[in-house]
Formats: sequence, C-alpha cells, structure tokens
Amino acid sequence: MAYIGLLEVFIAILIYIFFHFLIHKKPHKILPRNWPLLGMLPGVVVMLHRINGYLAEILEVSNLTFVFKGPWFSGMNMLITADPANVQHVFSSNFSNYDKGSEFKEMFDFLGEGIFTADSKLWEEMRRSSLVMLSHQGFQSFSLKTIASKIKNGLAPVLDHFAEANTVFDLQDVFQRLAFDVTLTLVTGYDSNSLSIEMPKNDYAKAMDDAEEVVVVRHVKPMILWKMQNWIGLGGEKKMTKANATFDRSCAEYISAKREEIISQRIHQHSTIEEKAHDVDLLSFYMNLDTSKYELLNPKDDNFLKDIIKSFMLAGRDAIATTLTWFFWLLSKNPEAVTKIREEIKNNQPRSGKSFDPDKISKMVYLHGALCEALRLYAPIPFERKSPIKQDVLPSGHKVDANWKILFSVYALGRMKAVWGEDASEFKPERWVSERNGGLKHEPSFKFFVFNSGPRNCLGKKLSFLQMKIVAAEIIQNYDIKVAEGHTIEPASSIVLHMKHGLKVTVAKRCLV
Ligand code: HEM
Ligand SMILES: *[C@@H]1O[C@H](CO)[C@@H](O)[C@H](O)[C@H]1NC(C)=O
Ligand SMILES: *[C@@H]1O[C@H](CO)[C@@H](O)[C@H](O)[C@H]1NC(C)=O
Ligand SMILES: *[C@@H]1O[C@H](CO)[C@@H](O)[C@H](O)[C@H]1NC(C)=O
Repeated sequence: MAYIGLLEVFIAILIYIFFHFLIHKKPHKILPRNWPLLGMLPGVVVMLHRINGYLAEILEVSNLTFVFKGPWFSGMNMLITADPANVQHVFSSNFSNYDKGSEFKEMFDFLGEGIFTADSKLWEEMRRSSLVMLSHQGFQSFSLKTIASKIKNGLAPVLDHFAEANTVFDLQDVFQRLAFDVTLTLVTGYDSNSLSIEMPKNDYAKAMDDAEEVVVVRHVKPMILWKMQNWIGLGGEKKMTKANATFDRSCAEYISAKREEIISQRIHQHSTIEEKAHDVDLLSFYMNLDTSKYELLNPKDDNFLKDIIKSFMLAGRDAIATTLTWFFWLLSKNPEAVTKIREEIKNNQPRSGKSFDPDKISKMVYLHGALCEALRLYAPIPFERKSPIKQDVLPSGHKVDANWKILFSVYALGRMKAVWGEDASEFKPERWVSERNGGLKHEPSFKFFVFNSGPRNCLGKKLSFLQMKIVAAEIIQNYDIKVAEGHTIEPASSIVLHMKHGLKVTVAKRCLV
C-alpha cells in the first residue's frame, strides 16, 4: 500500500510539473524557468560555468534587478541587481542598515578577524589605521622602490628569457607571481622571488589558490554540510585545513623574523636609522603602532598580526594580476590602442635608465582609461553581497526583508547598456578621457563599482593604478605580446575573475631606436 501511495504522489508531481510547464510561459527566453519545488536552481546550475555572463544577460532584460527563487525552503532566495541606484543606496545612503551577512565571516574563516571580515568598531579601527599606513610617506616611497626593483630583477629577466627561447608561456602566471612578490614585500618586507626564470613553487601562493577555490564551493553548499566535511577532513575542506596551516606557519615566521629585525635595528640604531627611515612595510608599521589611539588593535598579539598579513596578501595579489591579464588580452584585440599608449609613453618617457615616476605616470590618461576599460569589462571581484538588518525598500522599488540576500553583480553592472550606453560591450579607453580638457573623466563609484563604493570602498585603488600603470608601460614600451593561436579565453567561475585556462602568449623584444 505504502508503495502505491508513493508512486501516486510521484505521478501527481510529474503531472503538476507538466501542467506548470504548459501554463506558465517564461516571461523572456533568457530568464530561467521557475520550477515547482526546485525553483530556478536548475536553470542556473546548467549556466554555472558562465554564471557572470549569464547574469549580465538576465539583468539586461530585467531592468537591472531580478528576483531569484531558490528551491522551496532552501533559504536560497535572493535579489540580484546591477542597478547603480541600488548600489548607492545600500553601500552609501543607507550603509548602516546593511552588512555582509553572518555567513560571510564563516565562509572566510581562514582570514580570522581581518579588515575584510571585521565589523563595527574593530573594522572602523582597522580601516583608520590602514589609511594612516597607506598614506605614510615611508610606505609610498617603499612601494615605488619595490615595484621598480621587481620589474628590473624579476619581470624583465623572465620576459627576456621567454623572448629568447621563443616559447609559449602563461602571462597570467607571470602577473600572479609579480603581484605576489610585490605584495609580500610591501606587507612583510621580505621578497619570496617567486617570479624568476625557474618559476619555483611557492607554498603560500599555492595555499591562497586552494583557499579561494574552496571558498567558492562553500558558496553553493549548505553551511552544515561543508562544516561537517571540514570537521571530518573531506575533499576540498581538507585542502582548506592544510592551506590554513600553511598561512599560520608562514605568518609566524614573518612575524618572528620581523621582531628580531626590529630588535637588532634598535641595537645598531645609529648606523642604520638613516637608510631605514624611508622603508616602512605594513608589518613593521603595525608592530610599532601607537596603541593609545586604538582600543581594539593589539600588535603584541600574534594572531592579530597574522590576520593582517593574510587579508592584505589577498587584497594585493589577485585583483591586480587579474586586471593586467585581461588588459593585455584586450590590447591584443585592439592594436590601435597599443599604438596610442606607445605615443603617450614617448611623451612621458623617463630619463634613460630610470623607471617611471608617479608624476609622469599620472599624465598617462589614455593608459589609465584603457585599464579602466579592462576593469569595467572584467571586474576582478565580480560579486558583492549584502543583507539588510531591517526591512527596506530599494530605489528600484523592490522590497527587501531583514536577512534577505542581495547579490550585486559587479561584472554585469560594468556591461549594462542602460548604464554605459549602446556601446557598453566595446573596449573604448576614450570613454575615460574628458573631451573638454583631455584629463581623466570621473565616474561615480556606484557606477564604476569595481573598487566598491561608500565607507567600505577599496583602500588600495591609488596604489593599484600606480602599480598597474608602471608594469603595463614597461611591457608595452619594451615588448610585443602575441596571444597563442587557438587558445581558449574564458573567465573562471570564482570569487576572483581569473582566466580559467590562463593567458598563453609569446613575447618578442622590441628594437628601440
Ligand atoms: C585592481 C585592484 C583592486 C581591486 C579591483 C580591488 C577591489 C576591492 C573591492 C571590490 C573591495 C571590497 C571588498 C568587500 O568588502 O567586499 C576592496 C576592499 C579593500 N581593498 Fe581592494 N582592490 C584592489 C587592490 C587593492 C590593493 C593593492 C590593496 C592593498 C593596499 C587593497 C586593499 C583593500 C582593503 C584594505 C579593502 C577593505 C576595505 C574595507 O573593508 O574597509 N586593494 N577592494
Ligand atoms: C523598467 O523601468 C522603467 C522605468 O524605470 C519602467 O517604465 C518599465 O516598465 C520597467 N520595465 C520592466 C520590464 O519592468
Ligand atoms: C587555522 O589554524 C590556526 C592554527 O593552527 C587555528 O588556531 C585556527 O583555528 C585555524 N582556523 C581555521 C578556520 O581552521
Ligand atoms: C534605511 O533603512 C531603514 C531601516 O533601518 C529604513 O527604515 C529607512 O527608510 C531607510 N532609509 C532610506 C533613506 O531609505
């Protein structure tokens, strides 16, 4: 009897689904069908391999905002939006009513209490102290020195080597190593030299790749499931535990080395203070922090310092490497832009043997615009998420209840015709050059959202542009990059918009006369 009962229920469900299919026509051919029981999940799962592009298509035909219905009772319902008015409201005007949601901190547990995961008072102090650090004269001169020396001793020898050997190599891997070395030097003062001809393995960089991969998987699993897998040490979660141990071990080493360095400096104070006075890395800055100005920051606590190192390594490496990779791919399809950038470099040439200085770099408006186009079309961090603390109504007219999930597709926002015009999908650096005075055209951050907007916007924007422009100018001036024929280019479905298969290229040295 029970068996038949089950069968009948099954048939009834099938019939229901069949009639649902007949009666409810999809409002638009692009939109996913809303199935009984399963909601829109099936339609989205089959598109998961190109989720960013798919969301852009959906949002373009939905007036920039779309309500995603997950399976019944799964708690996966969410509002997906690429509407600048909603961005401005949630990230600025009504900032205090929205947080990252409780799940966020759990998923990024390996970061501890860093600036990305911290909230309220702790976040406020971290942000205030980071700002002091980033605008510190000693840190800025150290940044310039580090980038210049990395180009001379890391990037140039590696590119020369590949040019001479005339082999195909992965430019994305080169940029990741470059950004990793620069960031580790700025954060700890130590250079790992992961960018060298031998392309050595690097435990810390590998642990970062692993952790990022597992975090993505955590996003599409119920929390109780991945927590259990973590506890028993299953699959990807085992990798995460290993990555966490690597972070912990490496950070402990950097911290104890720095403590020794500071002590030995104090002993030899008179001899070294002159030359050392200008180099300030993040770790030394926090170790010497004036704690009377902060209640919650404790530089004597190793865990506090570890969390700072981990967060800034994550902030500094991936987005820059990803932007440069898409940038050089876009240039390969737009040779006339390369010509214009070379023209601009010629007019702002540093004296021979010198590297580019910030003054000259700031005059390269077209190059800046070209990088903005890469960022706009391939937002390195393609999603942002927020949850309202109290019920609210968004400018788009959508009501959001407390604890609802709101997903902002940064990737889609960069490509919406309603926001950027009919030519939104085209690479046009001119978009960023003012017709009036030839200077840089400003776009508000709720529209050009790649660095986030409002009180929690990116603290590294200026530094990133400086670094990316110097690296790009050096390469464009001295080399011709050619993308390998037949190489497939597609973005990875990840928290960072890497190229899934890397960027395979060959390089030739230019003859400069
Ligand atoms: C192209 C390069 C970069 C892009 C596109 C980028 C983008 C972003 C985004 C989207 C956020 C918001 C993350 C969130 O809260 O959900 C952010 C935050 C942040 N970024 Fe960047 N970033 C870049 C480079 C850097 C660099 C080089 C640094 C290092 C100095 C940095 C430091 C930070 C910090 C400290 C925050 C946290 C701000 C806060 O929560 O108050 N970023 N960035
Ligand atoms: C989109 O928004 C405009 C005005 O904001 C409105 O007139 C139009 O009806 C909306 N279209 C859809 C399909 O919701
Ligand atoms: C990471 O490792 C440290 C040290 O072993 C430990 O204290 C911490 O709880 C771990 N964090 C996670 C999220 O596993
Ligand atoms: C901001 O959010 C609150 C809920 O905390 C809501 O009552 C209020 O109307 C919102 N403010 C604006 C300007 O929309």
